[in-house]
Amino acid sequence: MGSMITLAFCAPAAVPLTRASGLDCDGWLIRWHRTCINCRCGRCAVLQMESSTDMAADKAFQPASLGEQIVRRIDELAAISEEAGKLTRIYLTRELKAAADLILGWMREAGMNAHLDAVGNVCGRYEGERPGAPCLMLGSHYDTVRDAGKWDGPLGVITAIACVADLHRRGKRLPFAIEIVGFADEEGVRFASTLLGSRAVAGTFDESVFNARDRDGVSMRDALVTFGLDPEHIGAAARARRELLAYLELHIEQGPVLEAQNLPVGVVTAIAGATRLAARLTGMAGHAGTVPMALRRDALAGAAECIGAIEQFCRTDESGLVGTVGYIQARPGATNVIPGEVSFTIDMRAPTDMHRKRSVADVVRQIEAIAKRRHLALQLDVTHENRTAPCAAWLRDQIAQAIAAEGFSVFELPSGAGHDGMAMIDIADVGMIFVRCRGGISHHPDEHVELADADAGARVLLRVIENFRPRVG
Ligand code: GLV
Ligand code: MN
Ligand code: MN
Repeated sequence: MGSMITLAFCAPAAVPLTRASGLDCDGWLIRWHRTCINCRCGRCAVLQMESSTDMAADKAFQPASLGEQIVRRIDELAAISEEAGKLTRIYLTRELKAAADLILGWMREAGMNAHLDAVGNVCGRYEGERPGAPCLMLGSHYDTVRDAGKWDGPLGVITAIACVADLHRRGKRLPFAIEIVGFADEEGVRFASTLLGSRAVAGTFDESVFNARDRDGVSMRDALVTFGLDPEHIGAAARARRELLAYLELHIEQGPVLEAQNLPVGVVTAIAGATRLAARLTGMAGHAGTVPMALRRDALAGAAECIGAIEQFCRTDESGLVGTVGYIQARPGATNVIPGEVSFTIDMRAPTDMHRKRSVADVVRQIEAIAKRRHLALQLDVTHENRTAPCAAWLRDQIAQAIAAEGFSVFELPSGAGHDGMAMIDIADVGMIFVRCRGGISHHPDEHVELADADAGARVLLRVIENFRPRVG
């Protein structure tokens, strides 16, 4: 029967070491305790491999596959959470900083110059044959939703680093630089405004968000300062179009389509647009025992009617409209008090921008009517509005060629979920690779990607990078 053995090998020199190489050994487990005896670089990888009990001591081992490296790091990053037993890593928190430090270390290990930018993104650069050349930018996000899965976002960042590490190990430089950005806020959980990291890089960051407050009343401006960043310098994160050859993102599909097609990877055609609103209904708080039903102005009962109307409206649409109320807060929030004020969010998406905009307008009219009939004051703010972002045909072609070269059928699909490409499209053409996830489950702790699929995604991305041809003209 085989058993797990931890092997040490020198990453830059790519020379596998064996049990005979003088490493400490406690029987079956060989642990890495000191600087690599090969190059003394201090940046050596530790790999785990299945071995047979009669393994020859001088047998040379293969480094772990890209998929194995990726899965190990996904788990390592997922351990950084603000909630015990759950994965929650929100923008500008202590946990986000710890995650940033870990990722920056991985980038440096992969031969990149790495830094935290002005908005909290982790940025790494692997120079090309000629220093200062424009870059192929790879990225995804490293923040999460609350009680998240561990693959949404981090898979794209970790896979991109694994690809660069592979080039670095082989000493390979390309005619262009590669940059990786781990965006600090894509989910928009904390300040109700999404894509903050990629908007800062695209130069479209809206500084009015500085005054937005989280659930604890902390403004984004103050949170930036606590994190160690200067709000006045946010503009320093912006990049110019001429610096980028393209933006490429690998991400889990977050839906069931690839699984149904029995395919590990797919080419994304476009990222669906979205509108998010923050609603606040204000009535009159009062005594739950004394105010007759007909005389109440119950904000929570009004919100419940609004939520039902949103669901009903989207359910009866037959063109793929989806609407979600994902957050609600009632104040003052006591069993024996009529709720006087309720805040809730609305997220609406549709296959076309025109359909989404019309639907949002219809839903707003219904909410206004409900508020009026119930004598509730209504405040409705659009907190996020993103048009559909098409993926560039020339990048789709190059991704398709890489998928075919890896021996998989080429399958194209749209993304219903939002991604950083929606912001990056303002300064670069965008391409996306989707990786299959189990049951299409996402934004949920059961989110899962098989190791073989993570490996397939990484091999496709590496092939795209190595065969990348910038757009002509
Ligand atoms: C991001 O995950 C989104 O689509 O909301
Ligand atoms: Mn997400
Ligand atoms: Mn995501």
